[in-house]
Amino acid sequence: MAILVTGGAGYIGSHTVLALLERDEDVVIIDNLSNASQESLTRVTELAGKAPAVYIADILDREALKSIFARHTITDVIHFAGLKSVSESIKNPLAYYENNVVGTMVLLNEMALAGVNSLIFSSSATVYGHPDKVPLSEQSRTGGTTNPYGTSKLMVEQILADFSVAHPDFTITCLRYFNPVGAHPSGRLGEDPNGIPNNLVPYISQVAIGKLECLTVFGNDYPTPDGTGIRDYIHVMDLASGHLAALDHKAEGGAFKAINLGTGVGYSVIDLIKAFEKAAQTTINYRIVGRRSGDVAECWSDSSLARQQLGWQAIRNLDEMMRDAWNWQKNNPTGYRA
Ligand code: NAD
Ligand code: WQD
Repeated sequence: MAILVTGGAGYIGSHTVLALLERDEDVVIIDNLSNASQESLTRVTELAGKAPAVYIADILDREALKSIFARHTITDVIHFAGLKSVSESIKNPLAYYENNVVGTMVLLNEMALAGVNSLIFSSSATVYGHPDKVPLSEQSRTGGTTNPYGTSKLMVEQILADFSVAHPDFTITCLRYFNPVGAHPSGRLGEDPNGIPNNLVPYISQVAIGKLECLTVFGNDYPTPDGTGIRDYIHVMDLASGHLAALDHKAEGGAFKAINLGTGVGYSVIDLIKAFEKAAQTTINYRIVGRRSGDVAECWSDSSLARQQLGWQAIRNLDEMMRDAWNWQKNNPTGYRA
């Protein structure tokens, strides 16, 4: 009996695979390494003292999926594989719809053929678009996404909801992550973006290590206490434990649900800079520029449904997130590349 993890070599996938191995699950990974390095899996194996089965293949490859389902007795699929850059999705929408939407459809079809009927999908707070109000609960309106990446997540959620009506034996959980940050406390696993990071914490980390000169803060004229954008940052270790909780609390007899994974607390860009400065004992060079197109003022979760339905809540605070992000950056200045 094993759990199939798509995209298991990536940032959130590698932390979740480690958590699964640590509780003695058998894990099978499919990853095409389009945004990951196999080094992450070497390190997962070192930390766990146990190796996952790894297939370097694409989820769009039906034959690869068929052979994995034929070789292993898979009970559940945790589906991380997909493309995640907002800016890249605007430049190349078809790649995003193909990987994220078609990829999920291919996977789902092969699951159904193989009789595997439990799926946990990596969704995102991006499905809420421009929020009318915060905190965002699962009852909040979805839609109004501002880029093809966000739209691809919303489309997949809709496809999964429709699929679950036609396949009432399937249990499908869409976990809507807020802003994942941080790294494994060992400093061996973390986020390894290609090129110049788009996201705030990898950007700050690279300023702190001297790879980038100055952080540009996108706007200080939002209707927030210090004028900068507010987000719900969540430690990647908490996200990993959220997936284990979702596995443990899947509804028997089939169901579709969407659940927020956030802390329920919002922090501003300036809060992040200060917390990182404290963690790294350094000063972060920054300058304020205009707003980034598509950004919202505030996005943070009501995380009560996850507490009720999964018995899960985030336990790591902002200082721990920044400490572990810095520990990863400091120990791996060039990421997984030697
Ligand atoms: P990541 O890029 O580090 O991991 C994704 C993994 O999937 C990579 O290892 C990549 O090589 C693999 N992959 C991509 N396309 C594939 C394909 N067609 N076939 C096989 N493997 C493929 O990203 P992450 O941050 O770990 O995110 C994991 C999931 O969570 C993604 O679906 C992402 O959209 C979603 N998510 C991420 C965030 C975030 O900010 N990191 C927030 C919300 C949701
Ligand atoms: C956070 C805050 C920026 C960079 C994105 C995706 C979302 C989800 C998570 C996958 C904002 C500010 C940022 C910088 C800055 N991904 N910022 N200077 O935009 O909330 O969410 O990643 O699902 O879909 O949109 O995250 O880290 O880019 O930005 O001032 O150089 O930091 O304006 O307020 P975001 P982020």
